[in-house]
Amino acid sequence: MLPEKMLERAKEIAYLIEENDDILVVTHIDADGITSGSIAKVTLDRLGKNCDIIFVKQLGESEIDKIADENRFTWFTDLGSGQLDLIRSNVLYFAITDHHVPLEDDGRQLNPHIFGYDGGYELSGATTTYLVARMLGRSLFAKNIDLAPLSIVGAVGDLQDSREGKLVGLNRWVVEEGLTSSTLEVVKDLKLFGKQTRPVVKMLEYTFDPFLPGISGNERGAIEFLESLGIKIDEWSRWIDLTAEERRNVTSALVRLCMNSKMPFATIKRLVGESYLLVNEEEGTELRDAMEFSTLLNATARYGYEDIGLQVCLGDRNDAFKRARSLLQNHRKNLSEGLRLVDELGITELENIQYFDAGDMILDTIVGIVAGMCFSKANLNKPIVALAKNEEGIKVSARATQKLVDRGVHLAKAIKQVTEKIGGKGGGHSIAAGALIPDSEVENFLRELDRIIGMQVK
Ligand code: C5P
Ligand code: C5P
Ligand code: ZN
Repeated sequence: MLPEKMLERAKEIAYLIEENDDILVVTHIDADGITSGSIAKVTLDRLGKNCDIIFVKQLGESEIDKIADENRFTWFTDLGSGQLDLIRSNVLYFAITDHHVPLEDDGRQLNPHIFGYDGGYELSGATTTYLVARMLGRSLFAKNIDLAPLSIVGAVGDLQDSREGKLVGLNRWVVEEGLTSSTLEVVKDLKLFGKQTRPVVKMLEYTFDPFLPGISGNERGAIEFLESLGIKIDEWSRWIDLTAEERRNVTSALVRLCMNSKMPFATIKRLVGESYLLVNEEEGTELRDAMEFSTLLNATARYGYEDIGLQVCLGDRNDAFKRARSLLQNHRKNLSEGLRLVDELGITELENIQYFDAGDMILDTIVGIVAGMCFSKANLNKPIVALAKNEEGIKVSARATQKLVDRGVHLAKAIKQVTEKIGGKGGGHSIAAGALIPDSEVENFLRELDRIIGMQVK
């Protein structure tokens, strides 16, 4: 059950939105943001409201100025809680459905943190937005329950299932909604990318997180691994084409392989968990599996093609879907080149953090994904910080592990503290956070962050 107070707040925000006929939706450029924005848009369309949607990398002064100039009721999704001060002093009428660490409470904001839940893994931007969509749908026949799977794509896109290998907290409530309405199926399975769409050999060969010894980056190794298990496949067989028993055998063999190579238990555990299937999507497509769907979306808006991701969420299975698929190829290529670059550059360790500076070699919008992916090969006892240049300054992306968070690390708090001192703007979650800082402040930023993380774990 949802807590009563939160339900009340979701209702209040729904009333606030309902009072307006012309609404501007502002959302984030990642998978959680695209799904959040789509849920808002579908909901408003169904109510016959006029609605436009804009996507932003972050919510800074220049973005707020543009939004304020529109002079419309604005619904911020998957962002806004960390910029409440900026919004309040510039935008007259607004509502926020977000899960980032909030500055403070405000009656116009639905955010899990305010109600005692951790927005890092218990509710994402899309699942938070879904709660309000459900309240806005009271007068509609299906009451927007059909949007549950799309919101799960957002939560999975933010890796909210990685902590326990499944969605928990209030996200679980949304999963249940998907199950009751028969739009979602939950299966316990290998948690590798490409189960629906890639030949098994490629799925294994292209897995680098975690690094599978003898298999990652090694086609021959992947084929021999499958042959050693007596699995007969042709070059096109996908994971979903294997029998249940074959899938079980491969899974246990992979776990054994990782254990034999002394991989940390926490990393091995991440190999298996729940997968979320969108039952109304065609089997064998990226859209069937929430994990693949979210990667497809990340391949669009993070490269400036937000409209393509949006159209796919709104149901386009022709042109937009085709274009999203080709963008996905590009995204995968960029991620693997990014990983290779980090190998070349090396990761520099300070006392309490480690970092790499990608300069302009990795796009600022994906450097955080690369940081997360190469983390499992780095020192798991220190948060990893990635730097990339963009047109406004230096983009910082930081990632921690659950173990570090349990020991006291809170990246969003640390980054906020540092940017208050040296300039710049940042925020996020305990386990993942980011910032934009001035070019000249990189050294100070790293030194200060190192010091604060040191204090946090002490
Ligand atoms: O802006 P937003 O909250 O949507 O982004 C959350 C970010 O946190 C995502 O980039 C996601 O990959 C990252 N994350 C992570 N590890 C986790 C949970 C989230 O890197 N365990
Ligand atoms: O960009 P990246 O994937 O590293 O973002 C990690 C988390 O930090 C996300 O939740 C993102 O919304 C947040 N972030 C932020 N302000 C920034 C950059 C990132 O709040 N300037
Ligand atoms: Zn999010």
